[in-house]
Amino acid sequence: MARPAEKFVCQACGAASTKWSGRCDACGEWNSITEEAPTGSVHYGLAKGKSRKIELVPLAGQTKDVARLISGMAEFDRVAGGGLVPGSAVLIGGDPGIGKSTLLLQVMAAIGSQGDAVYISGEEAIDQVRLRARRLGLEGAQVRLAAETSVRDILATLEAGPPPKAVVIDSIQTMWLDSLDSAPGTVGQVRAASHELVRYAKTRGVTVLLVGHVTKDGQIAGPRVVEHMVDAVLYFEGERGHQFRILRGVKNRFGATDEIGVFEMTDKGLSEVTNPSALFLTTRDAAVSGAVVFAGIEGTRPLLVEIQALVAQPAVGTPRRAVVGWDSSRLAMVLAVLETRCGLAFGGRDIYLNIAGGLKISEPAADLAVAAALVSSLTGQPVAPDSVFFGEIGLSGEVRAVGQTDARIKEAQKLGFKRAILPALGNARGSSGLGLTEIRKLDDLVDPLSRGALS
Ligand code: TYD
Ligand code: MG
Repeated sequence: MARPAEKFVCQACGAASTKWSGRCDACGEWNSITEEAPTGSVHYGLAKGKSRKIELVPLAGQTKDVARLISGMAEFDRVAGGGLVPGSAVLIGGDPGIGKSTLLLQVMAAIGSQGDAVYISGEEAIDQVRLRARRLGLEGAQVRLAAETSVRDILATLEAGPPPKAVVIDSIQTMWLDSLDSAPGTVGQVRAASHELVRYAKTRGVTVLLVGHVTKDGQIAGPRVVEHMVDAVLYFEGERGHQFRILRGVKNRFGATDEIGVFEMTDKGLSEVTNPSALFLTTRDAAVSGAVVFAGIEGTRPLLVEIQALVAQPAVGTPRRAVVGWDSSRLAMVLAVLETRCGLAFGGRDIYLNIAGGLKISEPAADLAVAAALVSSLTGQPVAPDSVFFGEIGLSGEVRAVGQTDARIKEAQKLGFKRAILPALGNARGSSGLGLTEIRKLDDLVDPLSRGALS
């Protein structure tokens, strides 16, 4: 007997089954199973008339360079890879309330001065968007607005006129297609709505910016597959209570992904921070123990940030380890190396590590600065406030060279620092006005630091 065809497919994991159910047995997703026509085996042939012959062209050929859409907000344009590419779909993700709508309204106002810019809000009424525009001083901007959630109506309207330069859909979770039964915000709706909007972007050469809320565990709500559908994914992040906002490229078919743009949320919207180093350094006159400046690189740009460590005697019970802005397993590694290779004792103490300004750092080059902050706090010996640190720490306690030494040193010099504590440079030492202290093993840092020689 022939097996019944598997024609119900989970849209989240792809598992196929013979019957419909509300929850996928394979991945546990709810409301993700839809009926798909079974595909029998097909005999392909052009003669049958069903198939169309496609044209294959050589890879080498003439293509014209498309002009990118420059918003004029340099921090945004750089993260987008040097402006938005016409016909591309971009997902802007971030926590609710972080400032996505504000950012995109400002970007659209800038694009509106160059061509047709459309802003579709599914979350706010026209009046609310207008109110925000007034607050931003953009009430005169050439942006066409609609408060709408039906993808069919939106696309029908857009298709009826000449294609705009850019369209914002705020947010993808509020959009719905009448061809699906499920509610807006469900996996199926988000996926289908994204698919239609991305297709519109491609076929009409319109840049489509999709806003996506992020769930508590840090994922764009809705299927991961939206991230695969779009050309670029930019995350807008920041700590609540801090005014800094960082736009980070996590995927970009048209540019680098390690680029960040820095903004400050003011009472008149987001303003660009063109010299972020100055922003992430806390101003202090006297040296305090546990505070160290790290000369980092974010994307193509050097960035100086303060790393703060506090090593304290616990009040009761098990010691606490709390890390903000850095990888906690990396902290555990640095601590283990300090204990094993340098004979320091952190055991039994509370350890807190904080990256100032709400920045998140992922560079291993921060190891040396973190180690210096920890040792400084443990010994109570401050580090001179005019010194910067960078270098990667290996498990045997060796300090390894990191990339872009020159850029780090230049930035430190530009901001008035006098000394850099860094890995051994070998013979490729450039001339610099900074005093350079080379560190080969972690001991070379711990000894002078605990003697107060780096204060
Ligand atoms: P919003 O852009 O609505 O966030 P999202 O679209 O990501 O949900 O921004 C909301 C927050 O930004 C809100 O808490 C108020 C603050 N805000 C300012 O501080 N200044 C401003 O000029 C504007 C427009 C908003
Ligand atoms: Mg919003």
